[in-house]
Amino acid sequence: RTYRIATIPGDGIGVDVTAEAVKVLDRVLPGISWTEFDWSCENYLRTGAMMPPDGPEQLAGFDAILLGAVGFPGVPDHISLWGLLIPLRRAFGQYVNLRPVRLLPGTESALRDRTADDLDILIVRENSEGEYSEIGGIHNPGRPDEFVLQESVFTRTGCERIIRYAFDRATERSGKLCSATKSNGLIHSMPYWDSVFERIAVEYPSVQTRQMHVDALAAEIVLHPDRLDVIVGSNLFGDILSDLAAAVTGGLGLAPSGNINPDADAPSMFEAVHGSAPDIAGLGIANPVAQILAGAMLLSHLGEDTAATAVDRAVRDVLAAGTVRTPDLGGPATTADLGTAIAARAAEL
Ligand code: NAI
Ligand code: MG
Repeated sequence: RTYRIATIPGDGIGVDVTAEAVKVLDRVLPGISWTEFDWSCENYLRTGAMMPPDGPEQLAGFDAILLGAVGFPGVPDHISLWGLLIPLRRAFGQYVNLRPVRLLPGTESALRDRTADDLDILIVRENSEGEYSEIGGIHNPGRPDEFVLQESVFTRTGCERIIRYAFDRATERSGKLCSATKSNGLIHSMPYWDSVFERIAVEYPSVQTRQMHVDALAAEIVLHPDRLDVIVGSNLFGDILSDLAAAVTGGLGLAPSGNINPDADAPSMFEAVHGSAPDIAGLGIANPVAQILAGAMLLSHLGEDTAATAVDRAVRDVLAAGTVRTPDLGGPATTADLGTAIAARAAEL
């Protein structure tokens, strides 16, 4: 069948890496119909909005969305995030943010003496509620007793569905699931999260569970990543842990993610974990691997497992060969050089 896929390249290096992902996907699954949307901070500066008010409606009919990154100096980050990313995640019920973190061949872990077997973690992040909430605000502004409140929202439905999703992934993988908590500090939301986790754990007797405070879990990722497999966390905790895990496995340039609607009644959206990297934007040297692997996750979500595996293999083969490396991997190659090499290898598989 022919898939219709929307791209939102966005800002900065998002534009460069998305072009490479499209290049690779076209080689493994010819005939995809691509539609590009120029929603970005540049669009915001021109029109006053990151995307048009009917943005979600325009995307609703696509099979999937490939997003670059949004964010640009001069436009506050809360505008780019709340004007595009968060509304889309919520409009399409993408309540799972899936972030596989692996040590890839030919890349160096920040952790010495670690092998690929030690570093293969799947972070399942809650993507629709929790700490990222619009409820709150400043009180008594300008007065000595000024203060702000920032509320979190943890619903029964929201906690149950993400935790159940994580148990299902753990069942398919090693059977090990660790939940990130902080019930000693956040004394309302986290004990509630823990109680849902413990209730659902009863339904999965074969899964070996752990609950760790998020600070200790951060240390565990650095010190004993081999003891971890699937990690489930709230929106904030999952966000932080996945950047940490990506950094220790070789950097943000390699880590993909998916904003997934498991019920598949609306498109899911795939993107690199990294942002628009203004410090290297326009230089053509961003590593496209994270975005290309996001493309592989997109294919796998559509059920195109053969094509997804070819992309994954091609990335591994090219990185293992080590002949085409972008500056973050210690080489002189451009974004397009690495994308082209991966596309060529994928076409051979
Ligand atoms: P960032 O991920 O854009 O950059 C962090 C550091 O990693 C920079 O030094 C950058 O050069 C490097 N880096 C990132 N991706 C790379 C790649 N593919 N190849 C080589 N080096 C890479 O995070 P930062 O600087 O905190 O945020 C920049 C902007 O991106 C902000 O406006 C932020 O809001 C936005 N952002 C957007 C996201 C999204 O659209 N989903 C996610 C994260 C940040
Ligand atoms: Mg993040």
